[in-house]
Amino acid sequence: MSIAFIDLQAQRARISDKIDQAISGVVESGAYIMGPPVREFEAQLADFTGAAHAFACGNGTDALHLALLALGVGDGDAVFCPAFTFTATAEPIPHTGATPVFVDIDERTYNLDPAKLDAAIEAVSAEGKLKPRAVIAVCLFGQPADYPEISAIAKKHGLEVIADCAQGLGGVIDGKHATAWADVATTSFFPAKPLGCYGDGGAVYTNRDDVAEIVDSLRFHGKASKSDIEQRQFNHLPKYLNTRMGFNSRLDTIQAAILLEKLAIFPDEIEKRNEVAARYSAALDNVVDATPFVKEGFRSVWAQYTIEVSERDKFQAHMKARGVPTMVYYPIPLHLQPCYEDVVGAYADFSVSEAKSKSVVSLPMHPYLDEDTQRSVIDAVLSFYKE
Ligand SMILES: Cc1ncc(COP(=O)(O)O)c(C=O)c1O
Repeated sequence: MSIAFIDLQAQRARISDKIDQAISGVVESGAYIMGPPVREFEAQLADFTGAAHAFACGNGTDALHLALLALGVGDGDAVFCPAFTFTATAEPIPHTGATPVFVDIDERTYNLDPAKLDAAIEAVSAEGKLKPRAVIAVCLFGQPADYPEISAIAKKHGLEVIADCAQGLGGVIDGKHATAWADVATTSFFPAKPLGCYGDGGAVYTNRDDVAEIVDSLRFHGKASKSDIEQRQFNHLPKYLNTRMGFNSRLDTIQAAILLEKLAIFPDEIEKRNEVAARYSAALDNVVDATPFVKEGFRSVWAQYTIEVSERDKFQAHMKARGVPTMVYYPIPLHLQPCYEDVVGAYADFSVSEAKSKSVVSLPMHPYLDEDTQRSVIDAVLSFYKE
């Protein structure tokens, strides 16, 4: 039997009729760019996250870039982000002219450690070379970062908070999504994400009207926004008045139509992911070196189910021999990546990120992982510890 790490076809089997109909509806409509499904999806995403505004864009990396620019981040600024994440979290920072400052993570949640964030901000301020300006926190593996604490620290120092929810869309703290605390949040619809489309896609969502207006403009070549044309005599389309240097970063109408169908079943899929995670934890707690820790009041969307194993290479080979795929997210923390060589601050130690990068390994996880198949995964893990 072959076991999928993420089984996208199982989801397709559930809603393929609806998705195929949605795709052909767009093909027939001819409204391929910014067609009605894009606006409809944005409205539903805002509703789902409780944010006042949501804007779809080309991918989750662009979403972060748009968010940084909309907050006015640029030359001479320091943007703090975790050292243990996918490179896309930090990648847009240097493109704005700002400098990423990496911060170590909490050893149980793998998310940004608020106390270490506080210390890093103070160290950068004391050094006086960069202006502490913003924080990007990440919902790694699906669990929200500690937004209440992170935003309190950010506020204390006058910084703004971006929530990188590429892996954590739908994750909540006491029932509330990241924008209850963060100035702006972003997500990715890369196919393997908890809410994925059939290609690249992303979104920015926020409660701040000022940020919303700039994001909407920037993703569409810096088109004039409402306040740009207030008090102006204007007799042509605002998209042909370009008030800021922007991008072309839009979500295709076809992808929005697909996402509308997927968003309809997303709450049910989040429940199912939580059931799968609970079954793993019941079987593997106290067997492997660590099972995931979810903080009280937090709900993960389980982009990954990640355990820790000291003899990881041997473990992965053992699982592979039994037909079980595993993945390592992430084998190299960002402060050790060659592309960030010049930007590593001497502000902190990264011992937790470095240790975790050597021991984490993710098991198959998706909403359609049935109990029998999951039993084979669990048995393969247990047999590693018996041998
Ligand atoms: C934490 C994190 N941030 C940002 C991104 C970027 O998303 P995208 O691949 O849609 O650009 C990803 C996904 O790849 C991610 O995992």
